[in-house]
Amino acid sequence: MVILGIESSCDETACAVVRDGTEVLSSVVYTQIKLHQPWGGVVPEIASRAHVEKISGVISAAVDEAVKGGGIDALTDIDAVAVTYGPGLAPALLVGLNAAKGLALSLNVPLIGINHIEAHLHTPFLESGLRPEPYMPALGLAVSGGHTSWIDMPEYGCYRIIGQTLDDAAGEAFDKAAKLLGLGYPGGPIIDREAKKYEGTDFISFPKGRPRPGTAALAGLDADLCTSFSGLKTALLNYVKSVRGTDTTAPIPDIPRICASYQRAIVASIADRTASALKRRPYRALIVGGGVSLNGALREALARVAADVGVELLLAKPKYCGDNAAMIAGLAYYRRNVTDDVALAADVEPSLVVSC
Ligand code: KG4
Ligand code: ZN
Repeated sequence: MVILGIESSCDETACAVVRDGTEVLSSVVYTQIKLHQPWGGVVPEIASRAHVEKISGVISAAVDEAVKGGGIDALTDIDAVAVTYGPGLAPALLVGLNAAKGLALSLNVPLIGINHIEAHLHTPFLESGLRPEPYMPALGLAVSGGHTSWIDMPEYGCYRIIGQTLDDAAGEAFDKAAKLLGLGYPGGPIIDREAKKYEGTDFISFPKGRPRPGTAALAGLDADLCTSFSGLKTALLNYVKSVRGTDTTAPIPDIPRICASYQRAIVASIADRTASALKRRPYRALIVGGGVSLNGALREALARVAADVGVELLLAKPKYCGDNAAMIAGLAYYRRNVTDDVALAADVEPSLVVSC
């Protein structure tokens, strides 16, 4: 079964064609990073306009790539259209959803609505030669700019949040820190790169992302499986103020050491909660997805945690860690229980949560 997927939930306009859930016939991603860089973060109105401008070209490019690669003969070989309908920025999601509805109607094929977070957890299976079913039950870890969630997956296609950040997502914590340090956007890759330059062991002591007592219970979650990065960000701000003194424009010394220490606190927090979550059930695998899973230190820490507990670690290829549409088309193969009528009537759901 060949599915064309469309993704437009944030600042990437993407389209991909995937056969039977894992064989990627084409994947095209147009990233808007340059448009948002001057603002230090994603501006929803700018994102939406750029999606409108690019979406037709991106869809055509993905179809052309699939045809040129011999995966399909023509657009009419598409068996279904899949699209992210949440979570994400409403004006951005609308562009992809409407394009997908038009395409599904014109091709007279089903439309499958996909949850973006669930799709990130499909990325390790893309072009891997692996099927997901033998790895169940699994623990999913979605670490992106908008989410940091631990997700129980008793079987493939069923997702239950068992832990999450109670405020900023890990990617957001990286992005905000880079902005504060004047390093640019997006912050994750920059902090990752700066941190690698620090060869010492004299790390600045930053809080390890523990939620304030009682806050996890308010969300109905166990504190051992939750993080909070807002205190870490404040600690960084206080540290910068302390080294700068009264001159608020003075250059910040020791950027690599600051980045290494800050990254270490985030990674330790995620690794610690992951270790706790893995001890809750006899999981077969730890499945990780999302842009922050590109982080070298996090990859190493998760490999150690998985080895300690004796579960298999499944990470995506770097090109599928960030937002893409192959994950949407891929997961749709496993989530195609939504009828076309329901999906065609569907609206965007900016706060959509994972489900079974
Ligand atoms: O999954 P993604 O592309 O988009 C969302 O769904 O949010 O994730 C983007 C996030 C950004 O916050 C970016 O700073 C972060 O992933 N990121 C990284 C790295 N590369 C991207 N964070 C840490 N280390 C990296 N190497
Ligand atoms: Zn994402």
